Amino acid sequence: MSKTYYITTPIYYPSGKLHIGNTYTTVLCDTLKRYKALRGFDAYYLTGMDEHGKKIETVAAERGIAPLDHVKEMAEQTQALWDTLEISYDDFIRTTEKRHKTVVQKIFEQLLDQGDIYLGTYKGYYCMPCESFYTETQLGEHHTCPDCGRETSQLEEESYFFKLSKYQKKLLQFIEDHPDFITPETRKNEVVAFIKQGLNDLSVSRTTFDWGIKVVSNPKHVVYVWIDALSNYISALGYGTDNDQLYQQYWQGTEVVHVVGKDILRFHAIYWPIMLMALGVPVNFKLHAHGFYMMRDGKMSKSKGQVIYPDIILKRYGLDELRYFLLRELPYGGDGVFTPEAFVERINFDLANDFGNLLNRTISMINKYFSGSIRIDETVQTEFDASLNTLTEEVIKNTKSFMNTFKVSQALQEIWRLISRTNKYIDETMPWVLAKDPSQKPVLENVLYHLAESLRQIGILLKPVLIHASANLFKQLNVPESLQEWDSLGFGNQKNYTVIPKPTPLFPRLDVAEEVKALQELIRQGVEETAPQPESTVAEVTIDDFVKLDLRIGKVLTCKHHPDADKLLVSTVDIGQGQTKQIVSGIAKHYQPEDLIGKQVLVLTNLKPVKLRGVLSEGMLLAGSNKETLEVLFAHKLKAGDIVK
Ligand code: ME8
Ligand code: MG
Repeated sequence: MSKTYYITTPIYYPSGKLHIGNTYTTVLCDTLKRYKALRGFDAYYLTGMDEHGKKIETVAAERGIAPLDHVKEMAEQTQALWDTLEISYDDFIRTTEKRHKTVVQKIFEQLLDQGDIYLGTYKGYYCMPCESFYTETQLGEHHTCPDCGRETSQLEEESYFFKLSKYQKKLLQFIEDHPDFITPETRKNEVVAFIKQGLNDLSVSRTTFDWGIKVVSNPKHVVYVWIDALSNYISALGYGTDNDQLYQQYWQGTEVVHVVGKDILRFHAIYWPIMLMALGVPVNFKLHAHGFYMMRDGKMSKSKGQVIYPDIILKRYGLDELRYFLLRELPYGGDGVFTPEAFVERINFDLANDFGNLLNRTISMINKYFSGSIRIDETVQTEFDASLNTLTEEVIKNTKSFMNTFKVSQALQEIWRLISRTNKYIDETMPWVLAKDPSQKPVLENVLYHLAESLRQIGILLKPVLIHASANLFKQLNVPESLQEWDSLGFGNQKNYTVIPKPTPLFPRLDVAEEVKALQELIRQGVEETAPQPESTVAEVTIDDFVKLDLRIGKVLTCKHHPDADKLLVSTVDIGQGQTKQIVSGIAKHYQPEDLIGKQVLVLTNLKPVKLRGVLSEGMLLAGSNKETLEVLFAHKLKAGDIVK
């Protein structure tokens, strides 16, 4: 039986298009999986989407579609993105899937039965317009809402709580006994300090929204995000079901790794192991929390137009360029900055010059001096062979150890040390001088042989990162598959080379100024494509278009909240001539039913009827809005049925 390796990304929120931040985590896990597979592990890679919660409900409502339709669309878009990026995931879990929901419900009931979850009251501050709870420390001055600035009211809500405090000591002991449980070290120290302050029991259910997994024994509660989300790592393996073979194989296997960003460190380092302890599931994962990709002016932010999307980069550059940059530029334990200049320079210096050019020169010389074919001759050597050999061994050893400890950027620096050393070997041995002296022909062949062998090994070391360039290198050097494997590292394993007649560059060299400009433009376009379209872009219409709209004054007779959607109000409106219409409007954030009853409003009456969250809507109530507010347009002197034109 081979050793197993189970690796996971966070499951991302489908609240917007995924950017290079999420892409970094996903590419990092892909690289680690490929590395472990190369090392002979039976590796399994899980990613997915975290589809429940208030925020998703809101985003869907803003788009005017059902949450389930929204998350489905986002999941398809995300999977398509990962496929384009050739991410080698084995499973894609969505928390709205039945296989996940049943496991979460079972976990919740077990913890409830055991007394690890209990019913209590959640005290907080509630902002009515935002429909959100805040703790005292989150509030602005005078207890105002941190989001909209309006007054909040103190409120108590029934909620289930998870007894984190009960496991505090056990967790500290666990962290002490497992020094490599959390990396980097600095993150571990943060976690330990946080636990030592004392853990508060965690609110794990809500009654104020319903886009979530229902608590079976008390369905007015939905499971609040973290128990739902974290469980994905085992629900996807069939934990707690009759079909738990993957769980047995991978969770109970050799190595389990969760990779997350520093933003969700606490959830994974504290809540998750405690959940597992309470469930009696072995805590045998390692947690790696990496830093963030920033923009030159700070955090990535959609609203500020500061965000980079991976598909945009791929319009102009190759996948390996993107993978290399992301993995190389984020330092271990720290944050990184994505700038067009740095991106172009990494391609030019590291990929095109140092690496690509080495392959090019080597193949050209083998063609020029030996008509494309060379072979090993153990009786010949140069004074530089030994040092090249020693350095290669050192690089292999260090690369292994860096890859095993999530230091991928450092692993790449090691591999580039070998690339530089090999370039230097050309300068030292001066093949073009050797070529002038026929008696030196065996030495020349030995030199070129060393270059080819060095490149073959560089190709193997880079396989998990440069997935296309490594294959391309093997093809140009004509390396048989068995000699592309990790076990074939070491000089002398491939005895002869017959290279292609004309090398093709692995990475085209770029014009810095031109590319920086192009990248800036691409980034700008990417932001625009995903930003909401400004109103002013609607097309011109003629009066003939306008008269098609039956706009009238209507009088609101009744109005109530939509039974299944927090954002919606359902009104019956008298539109004159003895007619009434039922109209559903997304204005509940701004108006209460009693604000509208008896009022005269502007109505589009001949809109094609639709069902909104199950309730028929036969028209549209007109309102104006901007970023801050929304205002329904009222009429005062006119009467129901009067025409607006
Ligand atoms: O937190 N740089 O989902 P999320 C690097 N659903 N990585 C970044 C990044 C950046 N600028 N921005 C985001 C959630 N990430 C929860 C997770 S898991 C049980 C539930 C990456 O969509 C990083 O991995 O907000 C971070 O932890 C994750 O995306 C957050 O994704
Ligand atoms: Mg987040």
